[in-house]
Amino acid sequence: MSRRRVERTYLMDEDGAMAQMQMDGHTNQQPREVALDDIAAAMAGCRLCTLGDTRTNIVFGSGNAHARVMLIGEAPGRNEDETGSPFVGAAGSKLDGFLERAGLSRDGVYIANVLKCRPPSNRDPKPQEITACAPYLREQIRSIWPDAIVCLGNFASQFVLRTGKGVTALRGRLHQAGHFVVAPTYHPSATIYHPDWADLIVEDLGLVRAWLDEHPQDDKSMRKEGLS
Ligand code: URA
Repeated sequence: MSRRRVERTYLMDEDGAMAQMQMDGHTNQQPREVALDDIAAAMAGCRLCTLGDTRTNIVFGSGNAHARVMLIGEAPGRNEDETGSPFVGAAGSKLDGFLERAGLSRDGVYIANVLKCRPPSNRDPKPQEITACAPYLREQIRSIWPDAIVCLGNFASQFVLRTGKGVTALRGRLHQAGHFVVAPTYHPSATIYHPDWADLIVEDLGLVRAWLDEHPQDDKSMRKEGLS
């Protein structure tokens, strides 16, 4: 069987380690060592940036804590801020439809955002907000330790792949960032202005679906073999 080729990039810090936040009771947390609830508890009442002054709820993330696929969006919108759950508004309905078309189910994935608090009027995240929130997302990724990460939009793609490139240049193929296979794709909300991108999102999600099928959970040797 021919293996899907992936492009290598890095999710690591300059010193080769995925930067981490210090969790109580853990000196050097390993993959899947710290529970998501403990990370959420460490975030409670966060005031690391000014979004803490305007949010209603922290939107930590939701889904399968042992998912093979983690999706990362940009930031909560109004519905998410009100409910405390990611992708529950219009973008969420679109995302559900795209997942279904690609043969993935929302129940089987974990969904989080680059920012955990809503930027006023849904403006773009600011660099200092991304920096402040980054340790929480990194620890979520380390806790779930998925096989694949789907980056929805520019902010997630640039965060995970540590690049200034836009998603149009990155999408359409799988990347490798340390342990993770990464699929950058358009943000579901972007299809409001670019309806033709809906099929491209499904195509990108389909790459992940196919990669999962080609790399059954317990077959680590096959995963290595697939790397270019
Ligand atoms: N858009 C996002 O990026 N995240 C959400 O949770 C909702 C909309």
